[in-house]
Amino acid sequence: MKMQPADNLAEVLKAFNESTEKLQSSYNALQARFGELNLELESKNSELSRRVAEISEIKDYVDSILESVTDGVIAVDMEYRITAFNRAAERISGLEAKDVIGRRFGECFDTDFGVDLEDVSGDSASVSPYVLRNMKVGGREAFPVRESTSLTRSGDGAITGAVKVFEDLTELRELEEQARRQDRLATLGQMAATVAHEIRNPLGGIEGFASLLSRDFDDGDPRLKLVTKILEGARSLNRVVSELLMFTRPVKCDFRRVRVSEAIDGAMGFLSENMESSNIKLLRNMGPTPLYVRGDPDELRRALLNIILNALQAMPEGGDLEINCHSRSLPEAARQMLGTGLNGTWVEIAIRDSGPGIDESEIPRIFNPFYTKKEKGTGLGLAVATKIIEAHCGQITAANSPEGGAVFTIALPLED
Ligand SMILES: Nc1ncnc2c1ncn2[C@@H]1O[C@H](COP(=O)(O)OP(=O)(O)OP(=O)(O)O)[C@@H](O)[C@H]1O
Ligand SMILES: [Mg+2]
Repeated sequence: MKMQPADNLAEVLKAFNESTEKLQSSYNALQARFGELNLELESKNSELSRRVAEISEIKDYVDSILESVTDGVIAVDMEYRITAFNRAAERISGLEAKDVIGRRFGECFDTDFGVDLEDVSGDSASVSPYVLRNMKVGGREAFPVRESTSLTRSGDGAITGAVKVFEDLTELRELEEQARRQDRLATLGQMAATVAHEIRNPLGGIEGFASLLSRDFDDGDPRLKLVTKILEGARSLNRVVSELLMFTRPVKCDFRRVRVSEAIDGAMGFLSENMESSNIKLLRNMGPTPLYVRGDPDELRRALLNIILNALQAMPEGGDLEINCHSRSLPEAARQMLGTGLNGTWVEIAIRDSGPGIDESEIPRIFNPFYTKKEKGTGLGLAVATKIIEAHCGQITAANSPEGGAVFTIALPLED
């Protein structure tokens, strides 16, 4: 039987309809699956965001712990690349986290990390005991630290790097050194005072005779140079001896009413030669009314002399020396703390130079006996000045002035 064209078309249409239905149902199924996947994705997404928030919270928590500890913490990966560097590490090393994170430890520090990561295995001890080492950074002098290094591990126990926890021992060492010095000073004090006393007399003789001898030589005479050397040596020795004596002896003050400007003039009188030769401009402001304190004029002059001399020495090329005096009333609370002996009004003498100023970290130490950065210094100048001012119930403080240079402020109770 032969197929008619109409039958043929019906067949094709039927087949087409069937295919369309199949396609429709596949499409429906796909859409339903797509909906499911979308839901799944959404829930995964919110789960992921929750995890990210949780991790960021944990990270903030760990960071805040790291930042709050006073010990330095540095973490590295297996290539010694720094991955964590807390604030204490910044303070101790003088480096900034933003400059060192991602860099190798050896590029930032001149000392090795303290553990050989190429040589560690799964059963290596995780924490090394505390050791004392010197740490060195850049051009800075090496400083002592107490440190411990631990290996860091991933969840499955594989070693991922190491972390170093360290403490700066500089201050502790200095305190120990200071205590040792004080100890030595206490035992040797009496002896030193006696010896110094014994040295001073013949030394005065040497200085006197050398000075007489120097007059016998003409300016061009080579022997004059030698005598001048003897004179310089004797003078410097005399100064050390006097300061040592001054420091080891208790300050015995002969208290009277002292006009502050006179004490300052007295100290300046000793220094007029230094001032002229070194191109120093003196700016002096003694306040509108004369100020008086109760004190020993010689001792006060000595204390002022030490501070002004330091100021001049800080300006070898010349500069401004500014001395300001004014009175200052303390707030009631501070008056009460001081007790009834003092009326609560102070004279403040501020001595400012235009030299390089003092390193902030150094300021607490400059008053320690024997702390000096000068080749020929004894480091007793400020210690002596402090001792004198404290014997006058006063205080000395040092700071850097905003206009540059150092400013030393002596506060003494005002005498009505
Ligand atoms: N005006 C200043 N500017 C900068 N640094 C200062 C100033 N005054 C003191 N210093 C610092 O403080 C240190 C201690 O001062 P101090 O007067 O006690 O001893 P010295 O001056 O070094 O020695 P000496 O006074 O016994 O000759 C100085 O070596 C210096 O580093
Ligand atoms: Mg000095």
